[in-house]
Amino acid sequence: MNKIVRWSSLLAVAALGFAATAAQAQDAKELAKSHACFTCHAMAGTKVGPGFAEIAAKFAGKPNAAQTLAAAMEHGENGTFGAMPMPAQAGLTDSDAKLIADWILSQKK
Ligand code: HEC
Repeated sequence: MNKIVRWSSLLAVAALGFAATAAQAQDAKELAKSHACFTCHAMAGTKVGPGFAEIAAKFAGKPNAAQTLAAAMEHGENGTFGAMPMPAQAGLTDSDAKLIADWILSQKK
């Protein structure tokens, strides 16, 4: 009996964890929308800037990828993907930038 109780609470925790991850991804996408990132970026394929899937592919496995991307959003970036620079994204907090960076890195082509 005890075992069953323990297992079911484990399952509940696992389910909650999954729901939290999905909710976070949704939040990050909404954040990106609210910061007008989609004016210049598509989920995949070049718009003004590279697609989020292309960014994820380029930075996959790089050390400190999330911090690099978050810093690029906050301070601007140029020369990584092409001639077009990204201006610093005003109004992004560190935690929003980090959340969006993790979300971008989870995108697949
Ligand atoms: C005015 C157009 C524009 C807007 C708005 C914009 N970007 Fe960009 N972004 C670019 C361009 C252009 C590049 C490619 C820069 C380069 O080649 O280094 C880029 C590059 C990036 C990169 C890769 C950075 C790197 O280190 O190479 C990330 C991540 C990114 N953008 C995220 C965002 C997010 C998140 C937002 C919204 C908060 C946003 N961008 C808004 C144009 C834009």
